[in-house]
Amino acid sequence: MTAAEPGVEAAFGAMQHAYAPYSNFRVGAALVTRDGRTFSGCNVENSSYPAGICAERSALSAAVVAGSRDFVRVVVATEATEPTPPCGLCRQALVEFAPDLEVISVTVDGKRAAWRLGNLLPAPFTPESLAHR
Ligand code: THU
Repeated sequence: MTAAEPGVEAAFGAMQHAYAPYSNFRVGAALVTRDGRTFSGCNVENSSYPAGICAERSALSAAVVAGSRDFVRVVVATEATEPTPPCGLCRQALVEFAPDLEVISVTVDGKRAAWRLGNLLPAPFTPESLAHR
């Protein structure tokens, strides 16, 4: 049902490649651009725990390095019991490029949730925040 939605198949596909031996929490993400391109990422953990990266920021890096920055939605895919939103760090990373991003979260059991990034991060630090005297 949800597999036909833009980015959903890519997010589940990326989840299959997650490297999450420490948390056993596999995450896939897919960023969809305004011109219909899709960039995926997965979480890549590390034995030095803070060196790991989330699926969303992994997808963001893939998109930016390919020259795409105009995003309309991100899809997060997990095996969690309930759909999970992006973590705070990823919200901040995404808001830089897409303040009104559509955020979709899906689970392997077919559950789905949707938010707007502006609601998940209501008072963001933005490039404009860097203005100073
Ligand atoms: N993780 C993500 O990749 N994205 C999220 O939205 C939430 C958390 C990862 C980080 C870590 O590898 C694992 O999930 C458990 O927190």
